[in-house]
Amino acid sequence: MRVLSGIQPTGRPHWGNYFGAIRQYVDLQGEEQAYYFIANLHALTTVRDPKLLAAYTLDAAIDLLALGLDPARATLFAQSDVPEISELCWILLTGTPMGLLERCHAYKDKKAKGLPADAGLFTYPVLMAADILAYDSDTVPVGEDQVQHIEVCRDLAASFNHHFGPVFILPKAKLLDTSAKVPGTDGEKMSKSYNNTLEIFDDAAAQRKRIMRITTDSRPMEQPKDPETDHLFQLYSLVAAPHERDEMAALYRRGGFGYGDVKKALADAAERFFAEPRARRSALAAEPDRVRAVLADGAAKARQKAGEVLLRAKRACGLATR
Ligand code: TYM
Repeated sequence: MRVLSGIQPTGRPHWGNYFGAIRQYVDLQGEEQAYYFIANLHALTTVRDPKLLAAYTLDAAIDLLALGLDPARATLFAQSDVPEISELCWILLTGTPMGLLERCHAYKDKKAKGLPADAGLFTYPVLMAADILAYDSDTVPVGEDQVQHIEVCRDLAASFNHHFGPVFILPKAKLLDTSAKVPGTDGEKMSKSYNNTLEIFDDAAAQRKRIMRITTDSRPMEQPKDPETDHLFQLYSLVAAPHERDEMAALYRRGGFGYGDVKKALADAAERFFAEPRARRSALAAEPDRVRAVLADGAAKARQKAGEVLLRAKRACGLATR
């Protein structure tokens, strides 16, 4: 497997990022090739404060290392350190039908809300395609919300190959059955833009406070409930041990429990689950230069691979002069 995925540095990572994507990054590192990057070029479409974007980028690297990425088994880098991607993006933009991008949800949603969109947001999926294709990736571990973008990437790669010859590998999204769409505190998809996130690196007290605010329905305590349709239970399942999960499911089916108790159990389990990454994060944050060195090393490796693929693409379409 040749694995690649990216995460935007737009603030602090949440449970959706971890259980949908980052957990897969960690499981898949050590495959033939594993490339993970911080998508700061993508983030520039929303983070317009230079100090903040730079800080978020370093923070995202610290987060990924704290959550278990191992630079000895995976290449970790910042997207902006690989200029080959932007060049490849241009090559792919030529020949990208407008209609394909008009259907993409990030742009469509913004337009539907009457918000102004720029060309960066509109062409966002093409930059993402360049990210994926530049490393000959065949496997892209992501959450469900990115599947459409990977389909676009496949379309663009297939159409380039059709026109210019076999240059690109067609990638596939890799989703986890149980957490491709992690619910937020209101039961909708967890997302920063919905303000319904549980953050991984919140301190325990802040985490507990957010958990206590999770919305629940008003059915009486004694009424039996189906755990599988309840977002509070789904969140609990992510951080509880298997036997705790089964006991809680039985309690739901029996009835006679209060949501407040479930929230307390959830807060306890979450605290245990993330204790180690939190401690690792504090240690890493005290050594930013070490983290910068990891990114520099990763960028050198990534550039080498992306350079090879870019040259292949340039030769195929008549852009190589050597
Ligand atoms: P981003 O930064 O929005 O999200 C990072 C990863 O987290 C996953 N995710 C979720 N998974 C399950 N449930 C949720 N509630 C949830 N919320 C977020 C996302 O699916 C994603 O895998 N465009 C990408 C970054 C990117 C990229 C790439 C990804 C740029 N180039 C190339 C893969 C390949 C993004 O904005 O992810």
